[in-house]
Amino acid sequence: MNTKTLFITGASSGIGYATALAAARRGWNVIGTARRVERLAELEQAVAALPSPHGEVLALPADVTQAESLVEAVRRGVERFGRLDVVIANAGLGQRGALVDSNWADLEVVLRTNIDGLLHTIRASVSAIQKNGGQVVLISSVAGQIATPYTATYAATKAFVSSLARSLRLELEEQGIAVTDMLVGRTDTEFNEKRRGAGARTGSNLPTMTSDQVAESICTAIEKRSQTVVLRPFDRLILLGNTLAPWLIARLAKKQYK
Ligand SMILES: NC(=O)c1ccc[n+]([C@@H]2O[C@H](COP(=O)([O-])OP(=O)(O)OC[C@H]3O[C@@H](n4cnc5c(N)ncnc54)[C@H](OP(=O)(O)O)[C@@H]3O)[C@@H](O)[C@H]2O)c1
Repeated sequence: MNTKTLFITGASSGIGYATALAAARRGWNVIGTARRVERLAELEQAVAALPSPHGEVLALPADVTQAESLVEAVRRGVERFGRLDVVIANAGLGQRGALVDSNWADLEVVLRTNIDGLLHTIRASVSAIQKNGGQVVLISSVAGQIATPYTATYAATKAFVSSLARSLRLELEEQGIAVTDMLVGRTDTEFNEKRRGAGARTGSNLPTMTSDQVAESICTAIEKRSQTVVLRPFDRLILLGNTLAPWLIARLAKKQYK
């Protein structure tokens, strides 16, 4: 009756897919949303194949740029499981290339997905989240904390996410709802293939996490109701370096894209 229930956007691949699976392994129920329904069907099959006991997944199509689509997915999820404890605003899209050379269409889809999509997800779900124990998890990026030439618009959207997390935490504390800012570093997913824009990634030797590692960190952050999570020592080093010598980190970041 009281099984924890999560709502996740971007559950069709990468971090969202792995998090849905990791949550179901813990016995939590998952409402997994995205646009690619065939990938969501794969998620349902993967959850069904987990050793018992495991949580259930309800896969629902939803486009985060469409507020109504999220309202409907939350409604159907609560109808199915009877409660909602955690929302994970994960859906996102990368970008590369010099700002002034970028097509507006590419920049706009990044803004609509990463900013509007995040806001629509939060606004559609918070009223359904359990008071005193509920949680909003926002998937941000280390890139949003540092200078990141040639992927500047993407990084700025993630700075927006982390800024919003700080303020939203105070707005929701009276309802007993926690807000977690996950500062994710480079992770091996479809993310890089799908980045909008014409630039290239030129630096390749930085350590990369798997989506399963990130998923485990997200589940741990849910269990601990963490506020801000930097997942690994390498990223903590980058952020410390950015505080002490931001020019150095900016120079290193500039070598990563063109
Ligand atoms: N990979 C990294 O290095 C990295 C680093 C830091 C932060 N992050 C963040 O992690 C999050 C997940 O990215 P990922 O690495 O797992 O990439 P991914 O494998 O490309 O997954 C992105 C997910 O977002 C969904 N999505 C995109 N646009 C959408 C829309 N309009 N409506 C609904 N869903 C949409 C995709 O589903 P559909 O296409 O099926 O809709 C997909 O499930 C993103 O917010 C990203 O910024 C990633």
